[in-house]
Amino acid sequence: MQPHGNIEKKVLKIIIPNQEDREKLEGVIQDLKDQVNQEITKRKLPASIELVGSTAKDTYIKNNLDIDLFLLFPPSFSKQDIAKNSLSIGEILLINTEESYAEHPYLRGYFKEFKVEIVPCYRIENASQKLSAVDRTPLHTEYIGKHLHESQKSEVRLFKQFLTGIGCYGAEAEIEGFSGYLCEILVLKFGSFKNLIRDASHWKPGKKFTLSEGEPPFFDTPITFIDPVDSERNVASAVSIEKFNLFTHACQQYLEKPRLTFFFPNEVQPWPLNKIKTEIQKQDSPYIGVTFSKPEIIDENLYPQIRKAIHSICTACERYGFNIHDASFYIDELEKQIIIVIKTEKGPISKTYIHMGPPVKLKKNVEEFINKWEGNPKVVKKPYEDKSRMFIEIEREYVEIKDFLKDRVGNLSMGKHLGKIVSGNYDIIGLEDLLSENLRGFWTTYLDEKMSWER
Ligand code: CTP
Ligand code: MG
Repeated sequence: MQPHGNIEKKVLKIIIPNQEDREKLEGVIQDLKDQVNQEITKRKLPASIELVGSTAKDTYIKNNLDIDLFLLFPPSFSKQDIAKNSLSIGEILLINTEESYAEHPYLRGYFKEFKVEIVPCYRIENASQKLSAVDRTPLHTEYIGKHLHESQKSEVRLFKQFLTGIGCYGAEAEIEGFSGYLCEILVLKFGSFKNLIRDASHWKPGKKFTLSEGEPPFFDTPITFIDPVDSERNVASAVSIEKFNLFTHACQQYLEKPRLTFFFPNEVQPWPLNKIKTEIQKQDSPYIGVTFSKPEIIDENLYPQIRKAIHSICTACERYGFNIHDASFYIDELEKQIIIVIKTEKGPISKTYIHMGPPVKLKKNVEEFINKWEGNPKVVKKPYEDKSRMFIEIEREYVEIKDFLKDRVGNLSMGKHLGKIVSGNYDIIGLEDLLSENLRGFWTTYLDEKMSWER
């Protein structure tokens, strides 16, 4: 077994920029700043520019970085005006642009070969003056610049690469993991990558951290880390319970048996369809899919809506008597489709079910219960008493999950954009259709019990 130190050294060699990389990046940043400044002058804007994020803090990963350039406006400027101006500056200077949305719309794109974000915000002195969430970002840059030691920058980089390798890096909706800034303040808290991993291997949901004094507000998330520049904010709010569990598990495994693959996992090699089929048959639980077309919306809206749709579908299935073992999804970018894959139980379920009524001693409620069901054609066995409670046997509307889904999915609550699409058109597909060429990658990751570092 390789000691941790050796592996970490190898990783650092790959992810720390060398002098040449640094000079090149600095040149590009300077060039970009100059050009943005020219645009600001041309438009006579009262804005100043500030480099923020990991390239300003020197905590970026070589070959996987973005240049975060903020345009700081005085609070007297309207939201519309700051958005309009920074978008138009971005459009002129960047290529392959994509509009994104935090609290203001902003632009992402490329400048030379570097990924760039040009984000407008208000210039503030402390977080209590903030008008929008992004206004804090320059304060983060300042805080890290002041508190993070030169030697700790490598520790942050190591930690970011570790999280990237295990699929937990990024606060965006697709990942629901750790933001870059969260990595930095965790390293501040624990001093080094190794101490942090050691401590995290014992974490249970509900962990709370702060770097400041005083009683922090309560957040109901697996990790809370109060922002040192804004005591109202939880920097770890994006971390989902799934990613929290994956992270702590990875920390335990890494301590036990360190490997380079924690940082750089091998790619998923999609299994052939017949292997996927055999694995599914072993499980003896049928799968069913719900498919609909993918709306043209940004990921920050798409992922939460897909999760909401899955939740609605599963809850509705359970309410109608269909047990759901698991549900997952795949976004087919080629076919522009979303496929929700549900693992259920062999049908049909029983033709009838027993519905529980009130306790016998509550005379009034019993009367209401009887009246409510009186004459209902679905009643198979009239209200009866069992162990001092009333019951009734009723015929089910659906005994096959596919019939239920066919009829009902369109009426479930899904979130704004998906709701519109799904209410109009969706398909229910069986295993034969789920075993398609483009779903091989999905099935391999889904069925393979190996963790990313074991591949
Ligand atoms: N930010 C934040 N919360 C988020 C995302 C971003 O506070 N969920 C702020 C942080 O101050 C961060 C900056 O926006 O430093 C830039 O965001 P991003 O590029 O995502 O993070 P970086 O710190 O630059 O890390 P990376 O190396 O991944 O670019
Ligand atoms: Mg960045």
